[in-house]
Amino acid sequence: MNRLNGKVAIVTGASSGIGRATAKLFAAEGAKVVVGARRGNELESLVAEIKAAGGEAAALAGDVRSEDYHKALVALAVERYGKLDIAFNNAGTLGEAGPSTEVSEQGFAEALAINLTASFLAAKHQIGEMLKHGGGSVIFTSTFVGHTVGFPGVAAYAASKSGLIGLTQALAAEFGPQNVRVNAILPGAVDTDMYRDMNDTPEKQAFVTNLHALKRVSRPEEIARSVLYLASDDASFVTGTASLVDGGLSITRT
Ligand SMILES: NC(=O)c1ccc[n+]([C@@H]2O[C@H](COP(=O)([O-])OP(=O)(O)OC[C@H]3O[C@@H](n4cnc5c(N)ncnc54)[C@H](OP(=O)(O)O)[C@@H]3O)[C@@H](O)[C@H]2O)c1
Repeated sequence: MNRLNGKVAIVTGASSGIGRATAKLFAAEGAKVVVGARRGNELESLVAEIKAAGGEAAALAGDVRSEDYHKALVALAVERYGKLDIAFNNAGTLGEAGPSTEVSEQGFAEALAINLTASFLAAKHQIGEMLKHGGGSVIFTSTFVGHTVGFPGVAAYAASKSGLIGLTQALAAEFGPQNVRVNAILPGAVDTDMYRDMNDTPEKQAFVTNLHALKRVSRPEEIARSVLYLASDDASFVTGTASLVDGGLSITRT
């Protein structure tokens, strides 16, 4: 408890899954949280849940492809809570999947826009604010796909998400001297809407489950705890990492 006391955080992709679980955990650990995603109703119910549990949160609905949306999220954090210490840039999409010979330019570009360009735009405005108050922690949600494991049919997802690892390293090197830490988290399969959309049969779920050394997929709350670590002062010497939280998927060959 209280590992984020006095901290102010932005969490994107907070309307469901990993982002929602992380926003709740951040608030339970004492952070004041600004939550973002497109589905405003889901955000409002999250804010109500956090407040009912004694926490503090504010919501702003929008699309992460808009640079103005990131400016507005940062402005809300500053107006409401005075500063910004932590940003979890987690909103993401699978994008257009299927044989790469058939993926459209638009489908490929959309995955890049949501998963990669939006993360850059977010960090651009978040870090500017963090620098005013002595630093902070930025975390991107990447994935093992396209980093430790190649999968067929997900070129746009893999390219955009592995691009986040380069972005992480560049920003960590650039802003480390000013005490801004930047890390990427790489979950294995997590039981969320995205996972269920991708794996819509018991056979597909069994295949994915079996890829993990732990022979199960993760709950969103398990990923949230690793994000909490990277966000907190417990990770004060951790920056520039691609942090696998994948149940041993990347080392499993059986
Ligand atoms: N589940 C897995 O197995 C897994 C594994 C590795 C990495 N990940 C990554 O984890 C992150 C969270 O996904 P999840 O598994 O928790 O799935 P999820 O429940 O579907 O969450 C995706 C989140 O991203 C938001 N989002 C998507 N496009 C957006 C846009 N254009 N603007 C604003 N928000 C947008 C969604 O909100 P709205 O729809 O309300 O906008 C939602 O809150 C993603 O980046 C995903 O790639 C997931």
